[in-house]
Amino acid sequence: MEENLRMPEHVALILDGNGRWAKKRGLPRQMGHKAGCETLERIVEAGAQMGIKYLTVYGFSTENWSRPEDEVGALMQLFRTYAKRLLDVVVRRTTLTFFRIGASFAVLSVAAEQGVRVRMIGERNRFAPDLVEAINRLESETKDNTNMTFVIAVNYGGRDEITRAVRKVMRDCRDGRIAPEEMTEQVFASYLDTAGIPDPDLLIRTSGELRLSNYLLWQLAYTELYVTDCLWPDFTREELTEAIRHYNRRERRFGGITAK
Ligand code: IPE
Ligand code: IPE
Ligand code: MG
Repeated sequence: MEENLRMPEHVALILDGNGRWAKKRGLPRQMGHKAGCETLERIVEAGAQMGIKYLTVYGFSTENWSRPEDEVGALMQLFRTYAKRLLDVVVRRTTLTFFRIGASFAVLSVAAEQGVRVRMIGERNRFAPDLVEAINRLESETKDNTNMTFVIAVNYGGRDEITRAVRKVMRDCRDGRIAPEEMTEQVFASYLDTAGIPDPDLLIRTSGELRLSNYLLWQLAYTELYVTDCLWPDFTREELTEAIRHYNRRERRFGGITAK
């Protein structure tokens, strides 16, 4: 078991390295993304079992549109396939066994059986209408689940999220719904896509890159950072546990002084 580790309430993940994983094997990058999806299913299941309350993963950034068209297309198709299958399970409450045929759709079974709430952050108007519809329904069908909230960031950029929030604030101010004096950090946070979600306690980035890549810029203000060289498709429950072990050794001061 997880040796009595104190669980971070919210873990944010930058799942990076799918392309390098594929390259190492002489495979097309798309195969790395497919393997990455399978890893994600296992990690969502592990996270829910370990007692993590919020798990936020970076699936596609606002900058990722600059990749070659076929790679963008493949990523969107993967997202569509998973969103629709997940919705199907959630709506029909189909059994685990049925969806285990051919692949291990652990995310699906977790969502259906372990009460996972699904939320999407990012600007969704750029997606095809059927995908937007699937996302909206996934969110509404799972909104009462309380075991874990699984947040997927797609077409997400921290600066884009903040810019959209400012736009909403300006409209509300113009329409008399909020006065400048009423703006606080808490109020501003309620305008972000992550409204109602606590800030991440731990950020894990795979594949060794030491940067945020425009992820959760507001929310990561006091998050503990952990970077591993492990490529995302190779990431395991043990790697997740190791990150949480590191987290357990951190002293979070939030600008104060040490308690010792
Ligand atoms: C992360 O893997 C997945 C996405 C960004 C969608 P990459 O595709 O960035 O993999 P590398 O960094 O090129 O290895
Ligand atoms: C960040 O990874 C975005 C996602 C994991 C979805 P990237 O691979 O796009 O980031 P950079 O380009 O290395 O900064
Ligand atoms: Mg990358």
